[in-house]
Amino acid sequence: MKLFKTLFACSTAIAAAGAVHATELEVTHWWTSGGEAQAVAEFAKAFDATGNSWVDGAIAGGGSTARPIMISRITGGDPMGATQFNHGRQAEELVEAGLMQDLTEVAEAEGWKDIIKPASLLESCTLDGKIYCVPVNIHSWQWIWLSHKAYADAGVPVPTNWDEFVASAPALKEKGIVPLAVGNQAWQINGMFGVMMVAVGGTELFTKVNVEKDAEAARSPEMTKVFEQLSLARELAEGANIQDWNLATNMVIQGTAGGQIMGDWAQGEFQIAEQVAGEDYSCLPGLGVNQTIQTNGDAFYFPKLDDPEKTAAQLELAKVMVAPETQVAFNLKKGSLPIRGDIDLSAANDCMKKGLEILAGGNSIPSGDQVFSADTQGQMEDLIVEFWNDPGMSPADVQESYASIIENAD
Ligand code: BGC
Repeated sequence: MKLFKTLFACSTAIAAAGAVHATELEVTHWWTSGGEAQAVAEFAKAFDATGNSWVDGAIAGGGSTARPIMISRITGGDPMGATQFNHGRQAEELVEAGLMQDLTEVAEAEGWKDIIKPASLLESCTLDGKIYCVPVNIHSWQWIWLSHKAYADAGVPVPTNWDEFVASAPALKEKGIVPLAVGNQAWQINGMFGVMMVAVGGTELFTKVNVEKDAEAARSPEMTKVFEQLSLARELAEGANIQDWNLATNMVIQGTAGGQIMGDWAQGEFQIAEQVAGEDYSCLPGLGVNQTIQTNGDAFYFPKLDDPEKTAAQLELAKVMVAPETQVAFNLKKGSLPIRGDIDLSAANDCMKKGLEILAGGNSIPSGDQVFSADTQGQMEDLIVEFWNDPGMSPADVQESYASIIENAD
């Protein structure tokens, strides 16, 4: 008993000492859906295990709501310890203004260049040879998620590609099921448009328009077809009347919608609803037409702080996020692909395995955030949502405005 008491006293003292030295870091992000919250908790757990303390700064309303808040805090002198952005160019101006911590030393010490694949992920964090962020996942936009219940209720087979999806829509409508669940937020509609560009227009068109900023390609008949399909999608989405992406996913889970075109973060929602890929829902990469992984995703940036203890904790967090065990735990819950290929993902579900296979085959395209400035991305989002909300706007009208954005894109 005496020994037990002594041991207890010692461990309490150690825990107390640990608590004294624990450095708190506020981490902002927009991961507030059920699946997202479970995934981010893995980061918090891993960081807390280093003796530091994760102070969760979740911002509801999605990335478009969260990013302006994050940016104004950083530029306004109230920086957090770490913050999510989509990897790519969203934080470019903050880095250029010298507001972000340089991670090059830790990246070199940890061998990130050799570990992080594909190389474009770390390149998106690099400016003038220095590394300013840590990519934590690959989240492809190029998927459609299909409800087995919805198709069973409508008495038609689960579609295997976009054309079948369109053809089966009347049967769903007849049963009061919305064929396509789309949340009415600009980023969701613009993301879906990017998926259609790859499935309907092909990878070559996507590359010409997005990477080469070829305005002629944006004016081509192939591109007209993309806008025509987007206008068709608008008809298939009638009656959804929702905002948040996860509410749209929930319609697929409940079988009140046939499908949703959404990035693979949707998997987190199917998982917490205990749905099984291949049994309760199907996932078609590239709308079952053009199997591609788009290297969208998330990265963490560390604003400069005038506090050496916090700076050390920031670097510790950056390391922890790349660590193999954190990558496995986080990505399995998030539905995203890991940034390193040297880890055990045997627990991945069927959809994730499809994604890993496509990525291993080298079939990937960059995200809009990687190739366009935040300003150009914003202009495109505004235009696409205007088209979506105004059935009076013809595909020809939207195409010309779109081509002129591409012409002036940076
Ligand atoms: C992020 C995902 C997130 C999704 C919805 C995307 O921008 O990359 O991590 O789950 O937004 O919130």
